[in-house]
Amino acid sequence: MAKTALITGAGQNMGLGVARHLAAQGIQVLINDIDPERAEAAAAEIRASGGNALAAAFDITKTDIALSRIAELEAENGGIDILVNNAGNAGHKATHQIPFKDMPPEEWDMYIGVNLYGVLNCTKAVLNGMCDRGWGRVITISSEAGRVGLDINVSVYGAAKAGAAHLMRHIAREVGPYGVTANVVSLGLMDNVPDEFAGPIIKTIPTRRLGTGEDVAAAVDYLTSDAASWVTGQTLPVNGGSYAI
Ligand SMILES: NC(=O)c1ccc[n+]([C@@H]2O[C@H](COP(=O)([O-])OP(=O)(O)OC[C@H]3O[C@@H](n4cnc5c(N)ncnc54)[C@H](O)[C@@H]3O)[C@@H](O)[C@H]2O)c1
Repeated sequence: MAKTALITGAGQNMGLGVARHLAAQGIQVLINDIDPERAEAAAAEIRASGGNALAAAFDITKTDIALSRIAELEAENGGIDILVNNAGNAGHKATHQIPFKDMPPEEWDMYIGVNLYGVLNCTKAVLNGMCDRGWGRVITISSEAGRVGLDINVSVYGAAKAGAAHLMRHIAREVGPYGVTANVVSLGLMDNVPDEFAGPIIKTIPTRRLGTGEDVAAAVDYLTSDAASWVTGQTLPVNGGSYAI
């Protein structure tokens, strides 16, 4: 039977790239986004190319809403086999790149909410079903800001990403015996960041280019495959070769 994947924040950019790729392989994709129009437009685009896609708009930071909406989606679609925790706010216009010492504590929630609570909520919602069915893939899209210290003023964002990545390592141990894996794809600088920010950084990337949705999709493709059934609790950096440690 065809598998079903829930991709959070899939209305645009990296998440949409992943959704397009999974749909092209015959996987039913549930396109989550906090923005309903964006989710619907992405699902319509995939359906127009022959894929099986449904919009599933809700705010993943709201625990009650996320748990109940995902339970409905599971009931309507015969379970969720693949969860890609992609939603984040790397470059959202409401976010500020300022040093931690200058950041008011009221701004912390903006990063912890989507990048850590969102991952907790969605992962919690799908894990029992995956374990009951004996197969599942949880993939969290993280950032190199959550893996190494950087001087680009993203401390709280990086801390939230690191928390979500470490959740995957623990969960991997808990659900491995059930045929469920949990991994992390840790992204470097992607092609949707503003030119003025990307410009000086590109020349420090060994492959001298920014990452794309297709780069993310290729990593997710491997980690969702049966070929990766012995890979769990791991972090795959997809970053053009930066921070090769
Ligand atoms: N773009 C980069 O350079 C970069 C680098 C490293 C890591 N990342 C990470 O990769 C992932 C994808 O990045 P992107 O650049 O494609 O992001 P993006 O901001 O372009 O898209 C994210 C999507 O998530 C949605 N979203 C935000 N909050 C949400 C919520 N509470 N509930 C549901 N949906 C929500 C947004 O509406 C948006 O459509 C994110 O986790 C990001 O942190 C991105």
